[in-house]
Amino acid sequence: MADPLTLDEVEAEAKKSLPSKIYDFYASGADGQRAVARNRQAFSRLFIRPRVLQDVSDVDTSVEVFGVRSALPVGIAPSAMQRLAGGDGEIDVAKAAAAMGLNLTLSSQSTSSLEDVMRMKIYTEKGLSGPPFWMQIYLHDDIQKSVKAHYTGMLTAFKSAAAGYQALVLTVDTPVLGNRLAERKEAVILPKGLSLPNLEKTTLGAKPQPSINRQFMNVRSAAEAKALRAAFGSKMHSASLTWERTIQELRKVTDMKIILKGIMTAEDAALSVQYCADAIIVSNHGGRQLDETCSTIEALPEVSGAVNGALPVIIDGGVRTGADVFKCLALGADFVLVGRPALWGLAYDGCRGVETVMHILERELSRTMALAGVRSVKEISRGMLGVANRNGF
Ligand code: FNR
Repeated sequence: MADPLTLDEVEAEAKKSLPSKIYDFYASGADGQRAVARNRQAFSRLFIRPRVLQDVSDVDTSVEVFGVRSALPVGIAPSAMQRLAGGDGEIDVAKAAAAMGLNLTLSSQSTSSLEDVMRMKIYTEKGLSGPPFWMQIYLHDDIQKSVKAHYTGMLTAFKSAAAGYQALVLTVDTPVLGNRLAERKEAVILPKGLSLPNLEKTTLGAKPQPSINRQFMNVRSAAEAKALRAAFGSKMHSASLTWERTIQELRKVTDMKIILKGIMTAEDAALSVQYCADAIIVSNHGGRQLDETCSTIEALPEVSGAVNGALPVIIDGGVRTGADVFKCLALGADFVLVGRPALWGLAYDGCRGVETVMHILERELSRTMALAGVRSVKEISRGMLGVANRNGF
């Protein structure tokens, strides 16, 4: 069978091969899934204004992130439990990223250990010279306790390994889990033999945190929710983090870069600069948290405007083509992440499937840049975009 030609075709193949429950778990968002739909729809309202006769015989899609060159301005977003897609899950994704010299962020809720994932990178030449991997975390109510008990062990273990994750991606859009109806109707339970090794190292208790968060999602009354939080608060996503404490406390226990994931407004972008985050990710968690929020590409102009170059702005949500990547870069993003496409690639054909996905994006971006008349990422500017229905038709 010929390889799929687009990410939508990869998703269609994945849908055929995955059990419907797993496909739904990966694909769906919260509540009425409006944010999931908006993330995609908003891209189609933007068009590119092409320039011609620009000598585009040599197009360069590379960018620098934290001083390291990446072949593509695209990395892989953290997503939980990748072994449910089949094969070796996170290991296959890491192999593909390393082979192509790409950045990835490992979810703390991964079904492979962070050490095993890093091994895929440090044993490959291109992986070693390529952009560093990042590690995603959630924090619990007591930051000191949470970071020390839960993550310091992980980070220390990792630091002693040859290369090291470069950054902690702190997800800040999850004070509580979004209302994910598909998961509430049919919970996804890890099959026997699969585990969440990064979380199980915690000294906070034997029970991995996601099951308690899922219980919380399913409580029937406010009183029940309160009781559960009183009993298990320290093992749940933290609803009490603040700007004043969070980054500061985290800095006390790590010298890794700190990237805030889930910034959607100019106000929070300005606070990210004020509290010295190293970078931010414009993200609505792929539509899995607050459903009635705007798409990430709609949030990007105000966020990049507020940041005004003070730190790198990264975006994820609904990016499915090279042209989408181009539009993100034009609206001020320095780097772009894809979440579900990596899962679809994994389900389609393991490590090779993830490479297929990233190669499609690479070719589409390079072709879009040539057709738009730009030779390098830094030539992509705001003026190259128009908004449909605002031009008098
Ligand atoms: C996610 N996402 C996510 N984010 C995070 O910070 N930690 C996590 O463990 C997960 N887990 C997760 C699981 C699944 C199945 C999905 C689809 C997403 C959100 C993810 O990092 C990213 O923000 C979105 O996936 C980006 O949107 P697209 O590219 O999937 O449209």
